[in-house]
Amino acid sequence: MDVATAVSQRISTRAFLDTPVPEADLRALLTDARQAPSGGNLQPWRVHVLTGAARDRLVETVQAAISANPFADEAELTIYPPKLWEPYRTRRYDLGEDMYALLGVPREDKAARLQWLLNNYQFFGAPVGVFFSLDRRFDKGQWAHLGMLMQTIALLAEERGLATCMQEAWAARAKTVSAFLNLSADEQLYCGMALGYADKDAPVNQLRAARADLDEFANFLSE
Ligand SMILES: Cc1cc2nc3c(=O)[nH]c(=O)nc-3n(C[C@H](O)[C@H](O)[C@H](O)COP(=O)(O)O)c2cc1C
Repeated sequence: MDVATAVSQRISTRAFLDTPVPEADLRALLTDARQAPSGGNLQPWRVHVLTGAARDRLVETVQAAISANPFADEAELTIYPPKLWEPYRTRRYDLGEDMYALLGVPREDKAARLQWLLNNYQFFGAPVGVFFSLDRRFDKGQWAHLGMLMQTIALLAEERGLATCMQEAWAARAKTVSAFLNLSADEQLYCGMALGYADKDAPVNQLRAARADLDEFANFLSE
């Protein structure tokens, strides 16, 4: 698979088959992904891969935490700035509407929408859950570098016939997940990633998020 195909084919997959992914494949994938660039070659990332009983225990632990307290853990990280402005507000809104239309959940049915979002905390059924963390002393630059690793993993996964969904949703349960992963106090959880084989028949996986036209975000200067 060439890079352009992997880039255009990768989507956020939100329904997975329960087909396991062998640990040897995951190790090979992450070994290849080490080639992701980082400023100063710091390679600031830490990656936590959960499969099998460990993945299931984490899901159960988080479910129990949600049942005990439906409100998110004390937020260390705001997923979006409060009061998103245009055009970002509309982009986010449109994504949600398109997704719930595919799921057949109407706008008024807030309970069903909320319930669906909880699928995040089961990795959308994926057999592999990945978490990314960083030393708290790192700054914005290193957070961007971590993003490079994440997209490299997603593209390499695509090449191997695997699907992914990056999941900032886990930030809402960062305390619970960090405790489960035994992260030291110096380590900050950023994001999760569901990884596995896509359920190609699931309607939600038909979602194709729109992209802004080139001239909306790129500025070409030639003189
Ligand atoms: C860092 C990051 C975190 C994300 N977190 C979530 C999430 O928690 N749940 C979710 O369903 N999608 C999540 N997404 C997926 C985005 O909604 C998706 O990338 C965007 O709508 C573009 O669609 P595409 O990935 O299918 O091309 C996340 C994406 C990124 C890059």
